[in-house]
This record gives sequence, structure tokens and C-alpha cells, in this order.
Amino acid sequence: MGKRIPVHKDGAFIYDIVMEQSFQRLLEELKVFDLAERKLCIVTDSNVAPLYLEEVEAIAKSCCGQVEHFIFQAGEEQKNLDTVKVLYEKLILSRFDRHDYLLALGGGVVGDLCGYAAATYLRGISFIQVPTTLLSQVDSSIGGKTGVDFDSYKNMVGAFHMPKLVYTNIGTLKTLTDEQFSSGMGEIIKHGLIRDEEYYRWLSAHGEEINARDLSVCEEMVLISNEIKRGVVEKDPTEQGDRALLNFGHTLGHAIEKLADFKLMHGHCVGLGCIAAMAISVERGVFAEEELDSLIKMMKQFGLPVTVQGLSCEDVIETTKSDKKMDSGTIRFILLNKIGNAYIDKNVTEEEMAMGLHKILT
Ligand SMILES: NC(=O)c1ccc[n+]([C@@H]2O[C@H](COP(=O)([O-])OP(=O)(O)OC[C@H]3O[C@@H](n4cnc5c(N)ncnc54)[C@H](O)[C@@H]3O)[C@@H](O)[C@H]2O)c1
Ligand SMILES: [Zn+2]
Repeated sequence: MGKRIPVHKDGAFIYDIVMEQSFQRLLEELKVFDLAERKLCIVTDSNVAPLYLEEVEAIAKSCCGQVEHFIFQAGEEQKNLDTVKVLYEKLILSRFDRHDYLLALGGGVVGDLCGYAAATYLRGISFIQVPTTLLSQVDSSIGGKTGVDFDSYKNMVGAFHMPKLVYTNIGTLKTLTDEQFSSGMGEIIKHGLIRDEEYYRWLSAHGEEINARDLSVCEEMVLISNEIKRGVVEKDPTEQGDRALLNFGHTLGHAIEKLADFKLMHGHCVGLGCIAAMAISVERGVFAEEELDSLIKMMKQFGLPVTVQGLSCEDVIETTKSDKKMDSGTIRFILLNKIGNAYIDKNVTEEEMAMGLHKILT
């Protein structure tokens, strides 16, 4: 058991993603960084701390000179500069210097915030990702995007900062709520849709084991999704081209997320956006209606919502237009030309968006 995926940038090795079903190998992986004279601060949130902090902290203490922890209230509302400020204060008071480390133990909120603090404290210190949600294991912990929200503007302040290591303990999936787990499935289904038809069909065929969180099947799934995201990110680390394909389902999904005041989970909004985007392709004659039906069936199979109430079509389109993904006036919409292949389309009309939204807004 256990897998290792090396991630490269411009051909040079940057970091490993290590995948295990426990924290058993974490010590060995940390030892590589020679931390005996270094400080390490574990950054985590109020839900994850009672579950995993003790174990991870004990491991860190056995190989680091000094270990601190910083716990903030769980939730997207805390992913902001105020929380980062309190973390900076802790690091300054604990005399962290530019050779010391941060370790993000938690979901995407912890990873994004901790990564941003690591990117900016003393112009950048090292950090390690230990993602504990399905979404963070397949998406946010890979690729080096870090950041925080600014008022209601999501991920408005951020930096690219690569971790030194991503240690994924698949076993942590067991303590997620069904809702959190299905949110990760939104991004995973997206991976199949944009890059790998076989994987897409495999997911549906393994629905029962995945929903039961069979760790071996989940490990295989997380591994394939990591390979897909790594493949895209390696080719285009700073989102000049291909990386935009990962935004499939996000163009309308983000607008829905924003209009719902972030009360809906990110992966659920992405799933809704995937349905709407595919509906546009059906309308264009690229897919048969049955393919869209089978996507909707699959979303339901994994507990994802397939409709959303109380939002107006006009509002979603307006919000989409004001989204930062706009590219000098045109919306770079991601569409599929077949299952497993996505492309950027700058010619999606408002009428087409409305038609796609019609499928999911009730
Ligand atoms: N950097 C990127 O490339 C990128 C990509 C996608 C999403 N994101 C960001 O990720 C965030 C969403 O990530 P998320 O869905 O992981 O949210 P999250 O970090 O808020 O985690 C969801 C909830 O699960 C709890 N939790 C975490 N691990 C747990 C575990 N093992 N058992 C029980 N509870 C656990 C958390 O405390 C939280 O309440 C958003 O802020 C989004 O912007 C970033
Ligand atoms: Zn996403």
C-alpha cells in the first residue's frame, strides 16, 4: 500500500504527493527535511484539531526542534486576512524565521490560508500540506494556489506557493460528513469529464464502494484524480492555458456559490455548473440528451444536488459576467466536445447560459 506521485515544474522536481491510509509514514516523510533544528507550526481548524492534531503533533515533535499549533474556527468565513494576521502574530512571537515550516492540517480552507501565510511570511517560508477532506485531497492541495477571501470576494488575495510535501491520509475521509464527501465528488466527476472517459465510467461503476468509503477504492480514485490534476497543472502551472480546463463547471458554479452566500458547498456548485455546461453542449448537438441524463443520474448517485432553488437566471448570468475569470470582456467558458475532453469556448452566448441554467434552477 501507499503511493507516491512526484510533481514537477519546468521539468524540475518540486514535491511529492504521498498517499497512505494512515499517518504511519508521516514521520519518515518529515525526516527528509531535517527539521531537528527547525520550528514547525501546525495550522488547523476547530473541527480537525480534536480529530487529528494530537497524532500529527506527536509525530512532528519526534523530529522537529520546536512544534507549535494554531487553531482557528472552522469555516470559509475565517479564510481571510484577519485570521492570517493572528497567525503572523503567533509566528513572530514564536520567533519563526525563514528556515522554519508551516504544516496545513485540514481541508481547503486550512490549506489555502496556511499556504498564503507561508507564501508571504518573511517573503515566503516552506509549508507542508496534510489535506483531510476529499476536496482538498483531489484538488486544493495540489498545484500551489494559495489565498484568502476579501469580504465577499472569494480568493481575491493570493499567491502561487508550492508545498514541500503533500501527505494525504485517505483514512481521514472516514470522519467527513456525507455532505463534505459528496462535495469532493463534484470535483472528481469533473476530472473524469474533462480528461478521462474511462475514469468517468469507472466512478459510476464503483459508486457503492466509493459511497461506503472503502479505503482501497477511495485511494485508487484519489490517485487517479491527483494524476489528472497534476498532469494539467504541470503543463501550465500559472494558468495561462490548459489549467483553465479545470474550471469546467466553475463558470456558472462560482456565480451560484456566490449568490447562495457560500451556504452551498463548493463541489456541489461545481456539480451544478457541470450539468449546466453539458446542457449547453446538448443544445449545440454535441451530446445526446441521454448523456446529460446519465451525468445527472451520477450526480444523484453520489449525493450531489442536481437543482438549486431561489436563484434567478439573470442574477447568475450577471454574476458570471463580473467574475474574475472574465478575459478582457469575454467569458472563457469551458465546454466538452466529448466525455474526457474539454476546451475553452469564448463564444457562449447569454441565451445559451440561460438555457443551461434552466436545467438546474427551480
Ligand atoms: N487552492 C486551490 O487550488 C483550491 C481549489 C479548490 C478549492 N479551494 C478552496 O478550498 C476550500 C474548500 O475546501 P473544503 O471543502 O475542504 O472546505 P473546508 O476546509 O472548510 O472543510 C470542510 C469542513 O470539513 C471539516 N473537516 C476537514 N477535514 C475533516 C475530516 N477529516 N473529518 C471531519 N471534518 C473535517 C472542516 O473543519 C470544515 O468544517 C474553499 O475555500 C475553496 O476556495 C482551493
Ligand atoms: Zn473547484
